[in-house]
Amino acid sequence: MEKKNKIVVAAITAVKYYIDVVTNILCDDEEETNIPVRIENYVDKIIPNFTNEQFRQHFRMNRSTFEQLLPLISLSISTTHIGRPSIAIEKQLLSVLWILATPDSYRSVGERFNLSKSSLSENFVRIINALNKIAKTVICWPREEEMETTINAFRNIAGMDNVVGAIDGTFIPIKAPHNDPEVYKTRKLIYAITLQAVCNASLKFTDCFVGYPGSVSDTRIFRNSGLYKEILLNERKYFPDCRMYIIGDKAYPLLGWCIPPYIDRGNLTANQLNFNRTLSRTRQVIERAFALLFGRFRRLKFLDMNKTELIPATVMACCVLHNICLDNEINLQEFMAEGNVNVDGNDSVEGQHYGNLDEQTRNGNIKRNELCRSFTRQ
Ligand SMILES: *[C@@H]1O[C@H](CO)[C@@H](O)[C@H](O)[C@H]1NC(C)=O
Ligand SMILES: *[C@@H]1O[C@H](CO)[C@@H](O)[C@H](O)[C@H]1NC(C)=O
Ligand SMILES: *[C@@H]1O[C@H](CO)[C@@H](O)[C@H](O)[C@H]1NC(C)=O
Ligand SMILES: *[C@@H]1O[C@H](CO)[C@@H](O)[C@H](O)[C@H]1NC(C)=O
Ligand SMILES: *[C@@H]1O[C@H](CO)[C@@H](O)[C@H](O)[C@H]1NC(C)=O
Ligand SMILES: *[C@@H]1O[C@H](CO)[C@@H](O)[C@H](O)[C@H]1NC(C)=O
Ligand SMILES: *[C@@H]1O[C@H](CO)[C@@H](O)[C@H](O)[C@H]1NC(C)=O
Ligand SMILES: *[C@@H]1O[C@H](CO)[C@@H](O)[C@H](O)[C@H]1NC(C)=O
Repeated sequence: MEKKNKIVVAAITAVKYYIDVVTNILCDDEEETNIPVRIENYVDKIIPNFTNEQFRQHFRMNRSTFEQLLPLISLSISTTHIGRPSIAIEKQLLSVLWILATPDSYRSVGERFNLSKSSLSENFVRIINALNKIAKTVICWPREEEMETTINAFRNIAGMDNVVGAIDGTFIPIKAPHNDPEVYKTRKLIYAITLQAVCNASLKFTDCFVGYPGSVSDTRIFRNSGLYKEILLNERKYFPDCRMYIIGDKAYPLLGWCIPPYIDRGNLTANQLNFNRTLSRTRQVIERAFALLFGRFRRLKFLDMNKTELIPATVMACCVLHNICLDNEINLQEFMAEGNVNVDGNDSVEGQHYGNLDEQTRNGNIKRNELCRSFTRQ
C-alpha cells in the first residue's frame, strides 16, 4: 500500500509537464581533467561552415529540418515568455540539441556555446517547454482520412490488415531521484522513467505517454494512460471502423481494439504460431522507432538531470523532435544502430487473463481468432 501511494505520487509529479523552475536543473559536472578550450564564436563562425553532413552528425538532424524547426520554436517561445530572451533563439536551440544529441558534460556544452551554466539551464527549460507546447500538434493520432494510408502501410509489412498503430513501452535510465528512489527501480535494478508510445509504419509517434516510474509494469501504465482512458470514452474517435486495432506484445491486454500475440504455453496450433510471427514482424516498427529515438538523442541513454520533475517533459521533447526529423529524412537506418533500446524482455502477462472474460476481452478474442483464420486462408 505504502509503495503504491508512492508510485501514484511519482506519477502525478511526472505527468505534470509544466515547468516552473528555470535554473539549476542540469547536474553539476564531475571534476573534468579535459576542459575544452572556449571556442571562439562557435555559432556565428563555425556552425555555418559545417557541411550538411557535419551538421547532421552533430545535431542529429538535417539542416533543412533545423531551419523548419527554428520558426516553430520561436513562435512557441514568443507566446510563452514575456520579454525577449537575450540569447538568440538559434543559439539556444543549437545548444539544447547538442545536449540531447550527445552525452557531453553540460560544462563542455556551455564552453562550446559560450554560455554560463545558468544560461544553459534556462535555455534548456525554455526550449523543452516550447517543444512540449507543440507536442499535441506534432504527435497526433491518424485522422479518419489518414486511416487508409496508415492501414495500407502496416499491411505491406506482413499482410496484417486493419492495424492503425503498434504500441510498446521502454525506459529511460536516470539518476536516483531524491524522493522515493525505490519506485523508479526497474526489474534490472536501474533507476528509470517509462515511455509508452504508439507509432505508425513510418516510425512516427502517434501517441506518447511519459513519466511513470520504472517499477510500474507496462500493463499498468497502459491502463493508466490518457490514450486508454480516452479510447474507453470514445472508441470510434480512435478506431472509426470496428475492424481497426493496435498491436502490442504480450504485456498488453487482449481487447476489441488491442491485439497481443497468443501466449505460448506449448499448446498453440501452427496457425496461432504463424499469427504470432506475423504480429511480431508487424510490431517491429515500434522497436525501430525507439531505436531511432535513442540513437538520435543519445542523452536518453542516461538522462542525468537533477530535477526529476523535468525529465518527462525532456523525453516528450525528444519525441516531438523525432517526429519533426522524420519529415525530412530518407535514411532511417542511419542513427538506429546507435540506439540500444531498453525493453524489459520479461513482460508479465497480467494483461491477458483467461478466466472471467469481460465483453472487451471477448471481442478481442473473437477478433484475434478471425485474424488468425484469415492468414490461413491466404
Ligand atoms: C545535482 O545533484 C548533485 C548530486 O547528485 C549535487 O552534487 C549537485 O549540487 C546538484 N546540482 C544542482 C545544480 O543542484
Ligand atoms: C561570450 O559571451 C560573452 C557575454 O556573455 C561575450 O562578452 C563574449 O564576447 C563571448 N565570447 C565569445 C568568444 O563569443
Ligand atoms: C568558412 O568557409 C569560408 C569559405 O569556405 C572561408 O572563407 C572561411 O574562412 C571559413 N570560416 C571559418 C571560421 O572556418
Ligand atoms: C505516419 O504519420 C504521419 C503523420 O501523422 C503521416 O504523415 C504519415 O503518412 C504516416 N505514415 C504512414 C505510413 O502511415
Ligand atoms: C507466439 O508464438 C511464437 C512462435 O511463433 C513464440 O515464439 C512466441 O513466444 C509466442 N508469443 C507469446 C507471447 O508467447
Ligand atoms: C493454452 O493453455 C492455457 C492453459 O494452460 C490456456 O489458458 C490457453 O487458453 C491455451 N491457449 C490456447 C491458444 O488454446
Ligand atoms: C535532408 O533533407 C532533404 C530534403 O530537405 C532530403 O532530400 C535529404 O535526403 C535529407 N537527408 C537525409 C540524410 O535524410
Ligand atoms: C522474469 O521475472 C520473474 C519474476 O518477475 C523472474 O523470476 C524470472 O527469472 C525473470 N526471467 C528473466 C528471463 O529475467
